[in-house]
Amino acid sequence: MLNELERLHAACFPNKPWSANDFADLKKSGCDIMASQNGFAVWRVVADESEIITIGVHPNARRAGIASAMLTLIENDAKQRGAQKIFLEVAENNHPARAMYERNGFVQIGVRPKYYDGIDAILMEKKL
Ligand SMILES: CC(C)(COP(=O)(O)OP(=O)(O)OC[C@H]1O[C@@H](n2cnc3c(N)ncnc32)[C@H](O)[C@@H]1OP(=O)(O)O)[C@@H](O)C(=O)NCCC(=O)NCCS
Repeated sequence: MLNELERLHAACFPNKPWSANDFADLKKSGCDIMASQNGFAVWRVVADESEIITIGVHPNARRAGIASAMLTLIENDAKQRGAQKIFLEVAENNHPARAMYERNGFVQIGVRPKYYDGIDAILMEKKL
């Protein structure tokens, strides 16, 4: 599974690929990971909050609802484990991801200036 994640992550984030070891470290640190043939997501639940660490869908499989379906699974898991809200950070210029999160009910609650190599991070939240 970790090698599959490495392959998918490189297809989704060619400029910043994560290794199988990076995913193993995330798992060790308490994150949850889901992966299918074309999509993956990493999230964590801490007390009454949940955070989406990353989510990606293979370029050949986009706009088919895969990311939205993964978000629904994450939201259900987080809720069941006691989370009352879920948050994430997304680069200001990542328009597909921002559109996808907005479509799924996330709202902007803040900005971290110049967070990603000079690009602002948009902080988004959804109440569960
Ligand atoms: C962002 C990403 C995960 C979306 O995955 P996806 O499976 O294509 O998303 P969905 O099919 O669930 O999209 C749901 C809705 O989001 C919006 N959306 C998704 N991609 C969009 C795009 N490229 N342009 C505009 N709106 C978009 C649309 O409203 C879409 O609904 P529609 O297809 O019925 O119009 C995918 O583009 C990706 O992997 N990008 C690279 C990695 C990345 O940036 N991850 C997020 C890091 S924070």
